[in-house]
Amino acid sequence: MSMEAKLTASVRAALKALYGAEDVPAAGIQLQKCKKEFEGHLTLVVFPLLRLSKKRPEETAGEIGAYLVANDTSVAAYSVVKGFLNLTIATRAWVELLDGIHADARYGLKEATDRSPLVMIEYSSPNTNKPLHLGHVRNNLLGHSLACILAANGNRVVKTNIVNDRGIHICKSMLAWLKYGNGETPASSGKKGDHLVGDYYVAFDKHYKEEVEAMTKQFTAQGMKDEEAKAKAEAESTLMKEAHEMLVKWEAGDAEVRALWSRMNEWVYAGFEATYKLMGVTFDKIYYESQTYLDGKEKVLEGLDKGLFYRREDGSVWADLTGEGLDHKLLLRADGTSVYMTQDIGTAKQRFADYPIDKMIYVVGNEQNYHFQVLSILLDKLGFEWGKGLVHFSYGMVELPDGKMKSREGTVVDADDLMAEMIETARETSSELGKLDGLTEAEAADIARIVGLGALKYFILKVDARKNMTFNPKESIDFNGNTGPFIQYTYARIRSLLRKAAESGICLPDKLPADITLSAKEEGLIQLLADFPGVVKQAGDDYSPSAIANYCYDLVKEYNQFYHDFSVLHEADEKLRVFRLALSGNVAKVVRLGMELLGIEVPERM
Ligand code: ARG
Repeated sequence: MSMEAKLTASVRAALKALYGAEDVPAAGIQLQKCKKEFEGHLTLVVFPLLRLSKKRPEETAGEIGAYLVANDTSVAAYSVVKGFLNLTIATRAWVELLDGIHADARYGLKEATDRSPLVMIEYSSPNTNKPLHLGHVRNNLLGHSLACILAANGNRVVKTNIVNDRGIHICKSMLAWLKYGNGETPASSGKKGDHLVGDYYVAFDKHYKEEVEAMTKQFTAQGMKDEEAKAKAEAESTLMKEAHEMLVKWEAGDAEVRALWSRMNEWVYAGFEATYKLMGVTFDKIYYESQTYLDGKEKVLEGLDKGLFYRREDGSVWADLTGEGLDHKLLLRADGTSVYMTQDIGTAKQRFADYPIDKMIYVVGNEQNYHFQVLSILLDKLGFEWGKGLVHFSYGMVELPDGKMKSREGTVVDADDLMAEMIETARETSSELGKLDGLTEAEAADIARIVGLGALKYFILKVDARKNMTFNPKESIDFNGNTGPFIQYTYARIRSLLRKAAESGICLPDKLPADITLSAKEEGLIQLLADFPGVVKQAGDDYSPSAIANYCYDLVKEYNQFYHDFSVLHEADEKLRVFRLALSGNVAKVVRLGMELLGIEVPERM
């Protein structure tokens, strides 16, 4: 229990004893950290309590202060500054608080029971025509971290992924492979499967552009205006026609097209798996659009029967959302083929059938805000209980310092390349700083991986997810800033301190000696540790990995100041030495648990 929570109970008792106030709600008791210029640790705001005491602020504060000192051994002293009651917490209470933290290996994290709410969280959700890029990295890191944070708040969490494995995009890759591939496979070329398929998607685009350009020239030579010529060329492109023909064949279940599709998708999945593995993200259940889009069609037709949707003359099916302040939304094309939205309806149906979902969270970039606004309304109309309350966790764009990161323009920052570069840089930086000295090759490689990925993950997650951001690789790996490596390094240093202590035979007792004198720095550190459960709760309520990241940084910064000003292992007073070791060990533990919620590993040595 945090010191605030503990004192809240005592203040309630005081209000009852002094003023006969029964069951004052906890929310009515405002306890905050004491301002630096005043003596004390916690401040009680007395003004809201005056209607209970019916006395002046100073008098009320004095009475409550005196009561607390007399009745709660945690309160050593008090002082009154205007309507504020400043409380000094007894050393014994701080030490006991630390004992409590020390006793709990998973301090601050709750566990779900069978009856906990079930939260499904969807993230990653790639298309199968190209490898993962920097935008997916942000998506995956946010999704994974949110899943951990929600689980730590006692929810049952199902991590899911929808793979958009059908549609014109994958047909383009397939067609280009047939035309220009000469039978190339991941095995024959040594290329990762998702990269290979992505290369053919790019090849399609290149040939298509060439074709359109050539045709446009031809048309303009015949006297057509530029715009018109281009539109005609695009409409008549044989390559695009062939891709569409392939899609129609796919929908009709053509054996040859389906076989090629399966083969190329398998390459892609093997590639994705390697990327996910290195990134450290996992899924409990993966859905595939090819297996859900027919259910989507069915649901839309059902909705049509019920009069929820309407059919136009050309046969297409639409939802009229003008009543909701939106426009008309296409659900099935005139030729009966489904659109992106149709798939999402089918996927929702299957998920709802598979799990008793209480809350559904979609981690998808903010360019799809409108899509999810519409999806929520449609699911609600179709009778999904969680439709109305679905959460679109909408995050901003991420780019590199040297320019935009946009797909389909050849300047995409590939996720695999980025991770490899980060690990390589971590290796160089660590070895320059002598941090890899005396390690085996395997140990050095592991540390480079932990630090390189830690730098990447932390830099992205510390930023408010809604904001656009620039990922700066160089800054992210600085060992002295608000970075992953800075936090990881502090962790490793504490672990080495604890190893040294253990080697010299010092062991930490369950109950620390209370007859010691603590500095404000030490008390402040315990207070910060005690904040952790509240930070986890807040991060869960706000869906905010950045709250965890910034807490970890604050804790580490405070600890480093303490470590700079005080000796730990070389402290002459034995009781103080043990206390400071325990304090350090619990800082390390909370840092590790916090970083775990971000999906970031911490090294035992560095
Ligand atoms: N595959 C889609 C894309 O790359 C994202 C899917 C997001 N999830 C969803 N349920 N619609 O744009």
